[in-house]
Amino acid sequence: MTQFDKHPDLIVRQPDPFNGGPPPNLLLGNFITPYELFFVRSHGGVPNVDRSSYRLTVDGLVERPLSLSLDDLQRLPRAAVTATLQCAGNRRQEMMAHKPIPDELPWGTEAVSNAEWSGVPLREVLAAAGVRPGARHAAFTGLDDTERHGHRFNFGGSIPLDKALSGEVLLADSMNGQPLQPVHGAPLRVVVPGYVGARSVKWLSRITLQEKPSDNYFQARAYRLFPPHYDKDNVDWEKGLMLGEAPVNSVILSPQEKATVPAGKVTVRGWALAGGSRGVARVDISADGGENWTVADFIKDEGVFVWRLWEAVLDLASGPQEIVCRAWDTAAQTQPERAGQVWNFKGYANNAWHRVRVTCA
Ligand code: MTE
Repeated sequence: MTQFDKHPDLIVRQPDPFNGGPPPNLLLGNFITPYELFFVRSHGGVPNVDRSSYRLTVDGLVERPLSLSLDDLQRLPRAAVTATLQCAGNRRQEMMAHKPIPDELPWGTEAVSNAEWSGVPLREVLAAAGVRPGARHAAFTGLDDTERHGHRFNFGGSIPLDKALSGEVLLADSMNGQPLQPVHGAPLRVVVPGYVGARSVKWLSRITLQEKPSDNYFQARAYRLFPPHYDKDNVDWEKGLMLGEAPVNSVILSPQEKATVPAGKVTVRGWALAGGSRGVARVDISADGGENWTVADFIKDEGVFVWRLWEAVLDLASGPQEIVCRAWDTAAQTQPERAGQVWNFKGYANNAWHRVRVTCA
């Protein structure tokens, strides 16, 4: 076992703070990702939180500011949501192959995992506090200490109030039926299904209702999508699109890149995920660069917010082959052909067709 009792085969992108995720062969076959395989994305260290003195502050545009202990939270109604968490930086490595992205983690396809979360719906806490007119965003602050550009501060971010009141957003204290573990945000984290992982703030200490989105670095600068001509030297931070709902995405988990497989019938397997409250409608696979497509079969349907696992059988001739996949969501949106078409200098939201190169023998 590695740090935090994670699986020894996790692909570790940074040892401290620990950042890593499961290779494709371990993601495959686990509809629910077990704790030891679940990816970790932390910008700072894991804070030590004393459960007895822990308080969740609820303030800003509320009728009654609250300071809730873990016992207070236990008395509120609970709910469970199965939701796939994907980092906005997942698949950055493919963008980096198009044009370098310095100072960011070179994630392959391992910054994604699926869990059953349970806890108190955020809307229950907001109902207890009372939403005041003018509130438009729910801002979250974590207890972890991060450093960017010489400043130390807590990680944070926000979501629109409509989403916060939707019922699916949880203040989770449990993951896969077990108490939430420190590296995933214990004692309490936000889970925002359908949004980029960054909004699911771990080690939650404060919820503030406000008129504007959070001015935390990770909302105001990072996790924004900039036009392709911007880089760190000429960036105008105001010009970035604030990431929220995730774009439709899909990945081939088997066969893996550079694998040798017998020529003939080859079973291709993978996952697809839509953002917001959209579902995955279809997944297509091609072995000739997108001239001809085979429609994949879904293995099961657990509804929106959850990846759909799929498989398709291709007939492949011997020699080198490139297999590509693309998904469609229920709004008929699909993925761009190449990572270069969506390249941005922070390397977020790569949802280009996923490609694996194999040799058929
Ligand atoms: N919350 C805090 N407090 N600090 C963080 O660094 N990382 C965010 C989000 N919440 C982060 C955080 C990002 S970018 C992602 S993708 C998810 O947590 C990852 O959650 P996980 O580590 O449980 O997989």
